[in-house]
Amino acid sequence: MGIRIIGTGSYTPEKVLTNQDLEKMVETSDEWITTRTGIKERHIAADNQITSDLALEASKNALEAAGIGPDDLDGIIVASFTVDQLLPATSCILQQKLGVSNKCLCFDMQAACSGLLYAINVADSMLNFNPGINRMLVVGAEKLSSIVDWTDRTTCVLFGDGAAAIVLESTNDTDEDCMVSSNLGADGNYSNILQIPAGGTAMPMTKDALDQKLNCIKMEGQETFKLAVGNMVASCKKALDDAGVTIDQVKWLVPHQANYRILKAVATRLKMPEERVYMNVDRFGNTSAASIGLCLDEMARGELVQRGDYVLLTAFGGGLTWGAVLLRW
Ligand code: UT7
Repeated sequence: MGIRIIGTGSYTPEKVLTNQDLEKMVETSDEWITTRTGIKERHIAADNQITSDLALEASKNALEAAGIGPDDLDGIIVASFTVDQLLPATSCILQQKLGVSNKCLCFDMQAACSGLLYAINVADSMLNFNPGINRMLVVGAEKLSSIVDWTDRTTCVLFGDGAAAIVLESTNDTDEDCMVSSNLGADGNYSNILQIPAGGTAMPMTKDALDQKLNCIKMEGQETFKLAVGNMVASCKKALDDAGVTIDQVKWLVPHQANYRILKAVATRLKMPEERVYMNVDRFGNTSAASIGLCLDEMARGELVQRGDYVLLTAFGGGLTWGAVLLRW
């Protein structure tokens, strides 16, 4: 048994916010943002565009690429920490918007920026071990502009909105199996360095919390940076060792697009030449659970990957969470 990717899709909203635009909003500069993060611009959803709308566009593209209809799906997982609402799951709302009428299973996945990798792993297990589940839609979708404090220059320059979707199908042909090896990790001891304090049971949303912008993302940047590099490198090394594959055999390293300097540091430590590290952080910023999927869709549509190529995905995010997935395309 195994799984294969039969379609990818992505969507980013029309509105582009450049570093020059941000210069007019907070005390920052294109030079600072570019040298510290590699980000030049990011896409921002319209006020009336919610996370499931972004997910819908990406999903429609992925279904079209896969050549299947909504009712061919046996399950939908949406990875996001900027869900439409706490209840119901955004995946259920997406199911309705896509017009899936077969009552397939739907649930959301919260592993912050590692969400897509967690969701791929869960989908892999479900596709392999449940004979009634043959095709699943895995989506990473975020409207991060909704939880950004636009007066906090240490975070507002980093994030963007977007969604990406992957259609996975089970296969009996082990040669077709795209999941070569995978590992996931988390360390709740660092839960405080990247968080949204208010809006849950720990701190319900009150006017006071809103006034203090406690509904917005708070991050200890440098600590997050260090932990991101160390954990992604260790995770990638484990994925390669478990598979008996060397970094030279890997066509593309696709890290979560958080910051150019993080991507570069991970690549250097893995001895991966920079030209084989896929990067689009300059155009989209950090889109959390959507970021790796945005890369994969660009790579697939640009025919940068061919069947049989090894592609190493790695992510890191709040929780803390991290992981690596070695794919054979
Ligand atoms: O998705 C996964 C989670 N997120 C991440 O992976 C992000 C990880 N962290 C980072 O990417 C980096 O730590 C940042 C890009 C957030 C910050 O870069 P840094 O090189 O770690 O800068 P810093 O926090 O040490 O700040 C350096 C200086 C500070 O000023 P002082 O104290 O030296 O006077 C900041 O106040 O830069 C200042 N600064 C800014 N200046 C202009 C912080 N943000 C800005 C800004 N524009 N936007």
